[in-house]
Amino acid sequence: MKVTVLAEHAPLARWILRHLRDSSTGVEDFREWMRRAGLLLAAHISSEIEWEMVRVKTPLGAEAVELEPREKPLLVGILGASIPLLEGFEQLYPGSPIGLVAARRIEEGEGVEIRLYYERLPSRYEGTAVLVDPMLATGQTIAAVADAVAARGARRIIAATVIAARPGLSYLQAHGGVDHVYTLAVDPMLNDKYFIVPGLGDAGDRSLGVTPDH
Ligand code: URA
Repeated sequence: MKVTVLAEHAPLARWILRHLRDSSTGVEDFREWMRRAGLLLAAHISSEIEWEMVRVKTPLGAEAVELEPREKPLLVGILGASIPLLEGFEQLYPGSPIGLVAARRIEEGEGVEIRLYYERLPSRYEGTAVLVDPMLATGQTIAAVADAVAARGARRIIAATVIAARPGLSYLQAHGGVDHVYTLAVDPMLNDKYFIVPGLGDAGDRSLGVTPDH
């Protein structure tokens, strides 16, 4: 599994993180910076999809050869934290099919288990799938979604995250199924509630502006 950390090449990623990590960023700005993170990630994963050459005529009457996507990647959002991040992807890949899944954390003794309780995915899909989830914490959710997408035939599975925790990347590497993780940053650890530290807090609550009562 390859891991690309955008903050290592693009200072813009650090500027986005500066806003997302800041506890004083309110819901409106948080969503806006998540959308920008989506745009940046979507631009970087463009080398993962297939392109074809097209000829265009410029206003000077000259010909130029440029590219158009040959395939529309399947974008898979994980509810609800991924909604603004997914919007950034949808802007750069207009018309891409969108799958949605929802996962629940079940705390069991010392550990935590992830169960998918909603899957709206195509019955068959054999192209490139991009799993869009801002936080790769334990890695179990992305692993479960990768399994669900692989079962439908996906040829290549990419994960796009804002912050990936080192233990989650190790889990995902051992689990297999994801070909390449793109993330703005890698953080060192999880706390005892499986939150990424330093992280950015609860990406779902901050993206949706609602703290659920369960
Ligand atoms: N999900 C979040 O929203 N934040 C974390 O730190 C980990 C998982």
